[in-house]
Amino acid sequence: MLRVPAFRVLGRARAGKVSLLEDCGTRHCSSRLLGARDDAGDARAFFTTPIFYVNAAPHIGHLYSALLADALCRHRRLRVPSATATRFSTGTDEHGLKIQQAAAAAGLAPTELCDRVSGQFQQLFREADISSTDFIRTTEARHRTAVQHFWGVLKSRGLLYKGLYEGWYCASDECFLPEAKVTRQPGQSGDLCPVSLESGHPVSWTKEENYIFRLSQFRDPLLRWLRGNPQTITPEPFHQAALQWLEEDLPDLSVSRRSSHLHWGIPVPEDDSQTIYVWLDALVNYLTVIGYPNADFKSWWPTTAHIIGKDILKFHAIYWPALLLGAGMSPPHRIYVHSHWTVCGQKMSKSLGNVVDPRSCLDRYTVDGFRYFLLRQGVPNWDCDYYDEKVVKLLDSELADALGGLLNRCTASRINPSGIYPAFCTNCFPSEPGLVGPSVRAQAEDYALVNAVASLPKQVADYYDNFQIYKALEAVSNCVRQSNGFVQRHAPWKLNWESPADAPWLGTVLHVALECLRVFGTLLQPVTPSLADKLLSRLGVSATERSLGELYFLPRFYGHPCPFEGRRLGPDTGLLFPRLDQSRAWLVKAHRT
Ligand code: MSP
Repeated sequence: MLRVPAFRVLGRARAGKVSLLEDCGTRHCSSRLLGARDDAGDARAFFTTPIFYVNAAPHIGHLYSALLADALCRHRRLRVPSATATRFSTGTDEHGLKIQQAAAAAGLAPTELCDRVSGQFQQLFREADISSTDFIRTTEARHRTAVQHFWGVLKSRGLLYKGLYEGWYCASDECFLPEAKVTRQPGQSGDLCPVSLESGHPVSWTKEENYIFRLSQFRDPLLRWLRGNPQTITPEPFHQAALQWLEEDLPDLSVSRRSSHLHWGIPVPEDDSQTIYVWLDALVNYLTVIGYPNADFKSWWPTTAHIIGKDILKFHAIYWPALLLGAGMSPPHRIYVHSHWTVCGQKMSKSLGNVVDPRSCLDRYTVDGFRYFLLRQGVPNWDCDYYDEKVVKLLDSELADALGGLLNRCTASRINPSGIYPAFCTNCFPSEPGLVGPSVRAQAEDYALVNAVASLPKQVADYYDNFQIYKALEAVSNCVRQSNGFVQRHAPWKLNWESPADAPWLGTVLHVALECLRVFGTLLQPVTPSLADKLLSRLGVSATERSLGELYFLPRFYGHPCPFEGRRLGPDTGLLFPRLDQSRAWLVKAHRT
């Protein structure tokens, strides 16, 4: 009986029907239509990272946000390789009181600080192989145009009014807080100072006349949207958190500041005594990068997937969808939320001096090594703790020993002297398990391996859809371990190419192991692009044979020809991933002292 590898469905996904819901406003919003797209289809997809504040240099938490988006986006490109089907934006958030104050504290003009730190983010993302298609800076002219247009739309729809706004404001978090979210902590002088209960950052009392957005009107449409689309916010607990906020008080939102107080921002159109609130300014970046307000943006907007940290969920799950509905657009299609990295059990902060510099990590552990570590160990549902020993241990065991070892075992000239992809022998490994015969050599565990690897691409795709990249990597790692077990079990180094009894089975063992490696290399591309390239190149897999649609695992087993059989392997360019423990021992020691 022939079994068709399960993952073939990936290449034939349905074309998703997209509804723009233009003019849905607050009354006509249909939550059913909002959930009607099929992500795996050949419709367009648009991934975004948050835009990063430029008050301080990037740390590993920022890189993690960008890597999650990058991996999702790269996986999507493997499913739908068309260069025009996927967009991916990142950038820097450069306006607001926080940046204004940071520049003043550093004795710099805001533009100087912005240029400097935005440059650091750009450099980090280049080095970390973040495959974004746009990097936006909110100080760009195209963004000012978009924000002012968006403002004009809200105004023309009667959703902005002027009023006296009073409350606690936290400049570090750039948000207003109700009294219940403020606590008192001893300050430097010993006096009790008001701080945000959630972030611990100082707050100050603000009372001014501002433009106010009628947020309270959007409670019911937002509830309908979230209840009607239970998969919009992933993981689920964050969806519940957003629903919970809607059960609480949802007051109107101040969306401007007095320019005399906040000058570093985009002026309110036709009223330059007021500056637009930095969060409204920042959120509109997602529209700017797809060409808003030009009509073109409409072919990208509803296909959006925002990747964000848990601290900015309320802005993305409540304020942003309400603003979009207010402007006659649909809320974002998906919001993927991740938790934070702590360092040796503590929150990362400049004052604690424990901020981990991502660029030195990329240097120490290699770009692919560090990408693998963050995505393999980072679990969106809860905070993860960083320490150097953990990186060394993981990379040595999974990339150097397990994956690198497997490749080495199947390609080393001792074992594969002809340097080709050997033939698969169906007599040695019949597609029907349990057959007996003189030439049958495959055992029950070997069929289990074939089944596991055959279902791996679909399993991995499902994990990506559920924003569980760490689980996708765990599944790959388990299959790598199983493949090593297969090689160990059949010990090809004990078989002899010269023996007519051994040769077909020796070729089959290597063929199966190389096929498994081809699947692993293909599936690892979104996370470790260079390492996967090295692996696939060593196997002789060409650039056009690396998408998910091309991934026919072990076709000979399923009765089809295999294009790789008999093909020369690619050149040996050295170890796939050198072990770190010896070469990096100094580092672990340095970290402990
Ligand atoms: N500028 C806003 C976002 C505006 S988006 C329209 C902002 N910037 S930020 O620089 O403070 O944070 C950017 C991202 O980094 C957020 O998703 C945040 O959750 C993430 N992280 C900040 N610290 C982090 C960790 N320690 N760990 C993981 N991610 C972290 O918020």
